[in-house]
Amino acid sequence: MSSSDGIGRLRALEQQFESECVSIVDHRSLEDTRARYLSRKSGLLTIELQNLGKLPKEQRAEFGRVANQIKLKIEGALETLQTSIDRREKQKTLEREALDVTLPGNRRRTGHRHPLTIIRKEIEDIFISMGYTVEDGPEVESTYYNFEALNFPAGHPARDPRDTFYVADNLILRTHTSPVQVRTMEKMQPPVRIICPGRVFRRDALDPTHSPMFHQVECLLVDEGVTFADLKGTLERFHKEFFSEKTKTRLRPSFFPFVEPGAEVDVSCVFCDGSGCRVCKGTGWVEVMGAGMVHPNLYGFVNYDPEKYTGFAFGGGIDRYTLLKYNINEIQLFFQNDLRFLEQFS
Ligand code: PHE
Repeated sequence: MSSSDGIGRLRALEQQFESECVSIVDHRSLEDTRARYLSRKSGLLTIELQNLGKLPKEQRAEFGRVANQIKLKIEGALETLQTSIDRREKQKTLEREALDVTLPGNRRRTGHRHPLTIIRKEIEDIFISMGYTVEDGPEVESTYYNFEALNFPAGHPARDPRDTFYVADNLILRTHTSPVQVRTMEKMQPPVRIICPGRVFRRDALDPTHSPMFHQVECLLVDEGVTFADLKGTLERFHKEFFSEKTKTRLRPSFFPFVEPGAEVDVSCVFCDGSGCRVCKGTGWVEVMGAGMVHPNLYGFVNYDPEKYTGFAFGGGIDRYTLLKYNINEIQLFFQNDLRFLEQFS
């Protein structure tokens, strides 16, 4: 083997390396190339250097010099490439992880309460502040609690299946929250001071003010020496707290089998302050409740002494109170779950 052959091979290797350099684009291709030329065992240049000993003595120096030169050149070129790949990778990482702190954040949509729930809670808070507790009762109710024990006579029209949803013979969807009066008196002795908000059901056709499912809040107070004046005072206080200090309350004689005397309760119209408008149909008053003194017959059903205790009860429509508070004229809006409506309340 002649030195010029040897050097020729070295130059060819050098050229091969130069043309390969173009395809070095990342750490991986860089390390592959480094290994191919310089690896201790099988690098192309390493193999050439191992052949050094086989050359005639006088050619060795020249071959060694050129081989070393090429080795340094390859190392230098790989070094430079390494630096520029490093820089490029770093730039890419920075771009990938770039964070624009001026971008608007993702707005999280939080839920909020239904208008009927807002008003129910407001009503509850007012009564809780007056010393009442909040009770609950079943929506599927027996005719005993819904009618009998509330002093409804056997053939009373309210029991008619055309007005009331029957689940079975003596089982209905409660038509009012008043059964909770009886259930409460059965389980506790006076003094009784409770309210019970809840759903009630009647076979009414849908219209702007009627729905077959709506909401009532019942109130019952029984103690010694409770009078009609206490009823009136409680209603007045409640309405002033709920609407405004200007709101007046008026009672008109009426009849419910479970109270005596009974009354319908009106409040002065919250929209026209009593001067007459569309909402109150020009009367200045809006009906909101039924009320009265607990009928002594009820005490017979729950073993209270009617000589010792008297009490009052009233029941109002939560839907009605909500319509009035928010000036809404369509009860169906509460049950259609249209977000455009519901989102106006928070
Ligand atoms: N329960 C009656 C109704 O649904 C309202 C009422 C409650 C009347 C309490 C008197 C006393 O119309």
